[in-house]
Amino acid sequence: MAPQPTDWTTDYDIFDKGYIKNPFPVWDELREQCPVAHTGRWGGSWMPTRYEDVFAIARDVEHFSSRNILVANVAPPPDADDGMGGELIQQYNVGAPPITSDPPEHTWARKLLLPPFSANAVAKWEPETRELCRELIDGFIANGRADGASDYAQQIPSRVIASMLGIPKDMAGTFTEWVRGFLELGLTDPELRRASGRAIFEFLYACIQERKANPGDDLISYLLTSEVDGEPVPEPHVLGTCFLLLVAGIDTTWSSIGSALWHLAQHPEDRARLINEPELMPQAIEELLRAYSPVTMARIVAEDVSYNGCPMSEGDRVLMNFPAANRDPRVFDNPDDVILDRAKNPHVAFGVGIHRCAGSNLARMEMRVALEEWLRRIPDFRLEDPEAVTWAGGQVRGPRTMGIVWP
Ligand code: HEM
Repeated sequence: MAPQPTDWTTDYDIFDKGYIKNPFPVWDELREQCPVAHTGRWGGSWMPTRYEDVFAIARDVEHFSSRNILVANVAPPPDADDGMGGELIQQYNVGAPPITSDPPEHTWARKLLLPPFSANAVAKWEPETRELCRELIDGFIANGRADGASDYAQQIPSRVIASMLGIPKDMAGTFTEWVRGFLELGLTDPELRRASGRAIFEFLYACIQERKANPGDDLISYLLTSEVDGEPVPEPHVLGTCFLLLVAGIDTTWSSIGSALWHLAQHPEDRARLINEPELMPQAIEELLRAYSPVTMARIVAEDVSYNGCPMSEGDRVLMNFPAANRDPRVFDNPDDVILDRAKNPHVAFGVGIHRCAGSNLARMEMRVALEEWLRRIPDFRLEDPEAVTWAGGQVRGPRTMGIVWP
């Protein structure tokens, strides 16, 4: 195990266990002492923690490329030769557009995705999501306890995206395993990451072949029948985008729902407010997203640049620490307090600029429905043992085991 950092300004460790569990004091210190910190660990990176810097770098697509958005360089990037899908990926040279593309490809790749993820399009999935949440709660309510992360939060996004892609919902557990293998555990375990990436690609490749033969009313068919400049969307692009949808929507939303439950389990006054003032829910969701933002992305420096005096070289990695930006006291009053009806909340949990989350309407709907259904059936609950809660961190931060009990 690597020694713990003694100086976080020059040697931070995003996989340090204490940091994953409670990164907030480190960010507070860095914001004041060294707003763009640096480390040589995990392939090396720069880490801005002030809102202003995260915002500026995320919008500067000329100097900061999205060609690799992983926060650690422990395994070859998705577009590298034998990156993760072996021959299939090599042959296709698949990335995960639009998140791994820069303009001009990014522009059409993103435009393609927006219609099926508009607020109206997403509303269609709300009844099914609600039904799913009810079934999950039915499964454990009589026990007086459940794991809020693995029995509930984890189960929701994987099933919803499976429905949208038109792939079997009983594969949801397998998807979650693959996605964790790729994005969470695999970030420090290259073999696992490669195997998980390959499994996802091979599975989706087979789905695409099947859907070419039997088109349906699903996202894969939508992508296959869409056109760009009068031409069908190239199949490798469809594969990369489906890969992204599976990977981007599962860990992230699961983590947000889990963190929200973690907060509510410890704050009876906030539970009471949400139950008595249900109209507050959309605003409360924005606040929970701000306070417990799960996602950090990365950028690759496109050419040598001095950013606020930091000598960044071409190829360097920069972490888009959206979660730290969202706790910056320069922008948010009392940033460590969760104020469910916070009036001014320009949070960047979904990013900012051209790569801003394309799935935000879906994520918000899933969070809202998951919390509404939980609070309706289990209004009074607490953590079984706060110390026993385990957290994942790095790219996506959120609780992974979280015993919750109720009377
Ligand atoms: C609470 C849950 C979620 C959070 C916090 C979140 C966060 C983010 C962030 C921060 C980015 C910006 C990436 C960057 O700047 O490099 C992003 C991009 C993206 N997200 Fe999400 N996301 C969530 C859920 C979802 C869901 C459910 C989907 C769809 C299934 C999704 C699909 C995407 C896509 C396609 C992009 C790339 C957009 C582009 O590059 O133009 N996300 N997300």
